[in-house]
Amino acid sequence: MTEAKRSGLLGVALRVAGVVLAALVLWGAMLVYQSQQPPAQPLEFNHQRHVQDLGISCLYCHSNAQRGVSAGLPSLTKCMACHNSIEPQTPAEETLRAYAEKGEPIPWVPVAMQPDFVYFSHRPHVNAGVACETCHGEVGQMTVAEPIKNQNMGWCLSCHKNSVDAEHFVKLSDCATCHK
Ligand code: HEC
Ligand code: HEC
Ligand code: HEC
Ligand code: HEC
Ligand code: HEC
Repeated sequence: MTEAKRSGLLGVALRVAGVVLAALVLWGAMLVYQSQQPPAQPLEFNHQRHVQDLGISCLYCHSNAQRGVSAGLPSLTKCMACHNSIEPQTPAEETLRAYAEKGEPIPWVPVAMQPDFVYFSHRPHVNAGVACETCHGEVGQMTVAEPIKNQNMGWCLSCHKNSVDAEHFVKLSDCATCHK
């Protein structure tokens, strides 16, 4: 093989390797991106329309957040208190009507949930004055409820460290506080 031919082959090999590497990086980025996409819901519920445009408060629909462990999702009865008198204009509103006529609860898919081995309660957080948006993002401006990334153990601990005094922080850091 001549010197020129060898460096030509090397050039091709490097270019192929570069393309393969770029493809792998893209594929990796896509997997990460996909894992943070909101899940498909049985019908599209638009937070922006209800919160920002209509002025309904978070606690009207998630009324357990102030007094309970779970915030809770609104019942079909709560939706239909308004929607019984609203003529369906969109496919989502037709679907809502259909669930109401069957008397079946809407099987919403969770987007903000932690794994089962984590204990979290809304009450102490909401009563300590932490806004919903601090943890869930600007839900009132979202057309689809979106998962927020990196809500891991470090996220909980770093807010605790910044929110309470040193003694209280030691108590809150006990493993049993969040893993019962
Ligand atoms: C300190 C952070 C924090 C604050 C503040 C907070 N949440 Fe949550 N929220 C969470 C976490 C963490 C979960 C997942 C809980 C689990 O997996 O048990 C969650 C779950 C939820 C869910 C899912 C279903 C359920 O019943 O819990 C809803 C709805 C919700 N939050 C609404 C709200 C609303 C409305 C507010 C304000 C009134 C609020 N949250 C305030 C952290 C927070
Ligand atoms: C306080 C009254 C009220 C409540 C409660 C309410 N809605 Fe609505 N909703 C409205 C109004 C008003 C509109 C706008 C209607 C229009 O534009 O024709 C609307 C619009 C919608 C739309 C169409 C929105 C769009 O832009 O695509 C859907 C779907 C919907 N609501 C579902 C629900 C569901 C599901 C619930 C219960 C979780 C619910 N609504 C609770 C008043 C309410
Ligand atoms: C009209 C009723 C209504 C209002 C008002 C409302 N929500 Fe919701 N919210 C829902 C419904 C229905 C779902 C389930 C469907 C979905 O995830 O889009 C939901 C889902 C959520 C979730 C994801 C819960 C899960 O399953 O993991 C969070 C977080 C949340 N809402 C926070 C808020 C916050 C914060 C506000 C105020 C800014 C708010 N919501 C106002 C009806 C409402
Ligand atoms: C944005 C700030 C913030 C974030 C994020 C946060 N917390 Fe907290 N958390 C607080 C504050 C403030 C308190 C203290 C409330 C009090 O003692 O009055 C607290 C207290 C607690 C308590 C003790 C409640 C009690 O009854 O004493 C538990 C359990 C807890 N947090 C779990 C979690 C978990 C699990 C996460 C993450 C999934 C988390 N927190 C994320 C601010 C936060
Ligand atoms: C303030 C709340 C909080 C405290 C205190 C806490 N954890 Fe966690 N822990 C979490 C959350 C939230 C997760 C879920 C993390 C995730 O999804 O990455 C978790 C996950 C874990 C996991 C699984 C890790 C993984 O990658 O799946 C282990 C193991 C764990 N914690 C051990 C501990 C031990 C040991 C302690 C005490 C030294 C402790 N935790 C204290 C909130 C807490």
